[in-house]
Amino acid sequence: MKKFRLLKVDEVTKGFNGKTVLERISCEFFNNEVHVILGKSGTGKSVLLKMIIGLIKPDLGKISIDDQDLFENAKENDLILSYIFQSSALLNSLTVIDNVTIFLDEHNVGSKQERVTKAYGILSDLGIQDAANKMPSELSGGMRKRVAIARSLIISPDILLYDEPTAELDPINTKIISQIIDKLRDTNTITQVVVTHDIAFAYSIADKISILEDGKIILTGDKDAIKNSKNALLEPI
Ligand SMILES: Nc1ncnc2c1ncn2[C@@H]1O[C@H](COP(=O)(O)OP(=O)(O)O)[C@@H](O)[C@H]1O
Ligand SMILES: [Mg+2]
Repeated sequence: MKKFRLLKVDEVTKGFNGKTVLERISCEFFNNEVHVILGKSGTGKSVLLKMIIGLIKPDLGKISIDDQDLFENAKENDLILSYIFQSSALLNSLTVIDNVTIFLDEHNVGSKQERVTKAYGILSDLGIQDAANKMPSELSGGMRKRVAIARSLIISPDILLYDEPTAELDPINTKIISQIIDKLRDTNTITQVVVTHDIAFAYSIADKISILEDGKIILTGDKDAIKNSKNALLEPI
């Protein structure tokens, strides 16, 4: 069952120390879509994601789910949002499996055995079950990213937000992340918002792309619309 239809960022402005970073930006994220926000570094992509998950408050404007303010109604709407940090943010003192079960452990969801079984299932879907007992320091960047994705998926999020998931990854690992995003789309249970500066990656995963430039979303469309727009950002260097 669909829990929501539309996540909407409506005329949101945010600045720091008198400097505007995002100016009256609007963007609509539809259920089950993969929506990519594409922009150069420093354009406010991470700030936008952090506002959507409520880590940062907009100065002006509103973020809503089906016309209800996302945070004022957080209890009623029952939606689960999960955010994957650019750094992956694994806990270095815990094994992979303990990193993945951590949210369930903290809230005592089910028995320990059930949590571990669930985590193994997700790790195996992501092709990294063999790493379950390793420490994060023993993993490559691509594997760390997959562990971070597993840790987010264990809480069955309705909306999953990725901050530059392929930053510092080689092409093979980038492709693996694209495949994971595709596979999740096919489950029809999850809305994915991905911010990146990687144009090829954006094209490989997106249902929709929004281009963020100079504090504004200057264009939103499907891949063809974006390709045909001839925006300078997309021109080969
Ligand atoms: N907590 C903060 N305090 C002050 N300035 C910030 C803060 N977070 C982000 N900024 C500034 O906002 C701008 C956009 O940052 P960010 O969203 O991280 O860019 P991007 O993710 O697109 O690379 C940058 O100039 C950054 O320095
Ligand atoms: Mg960023």
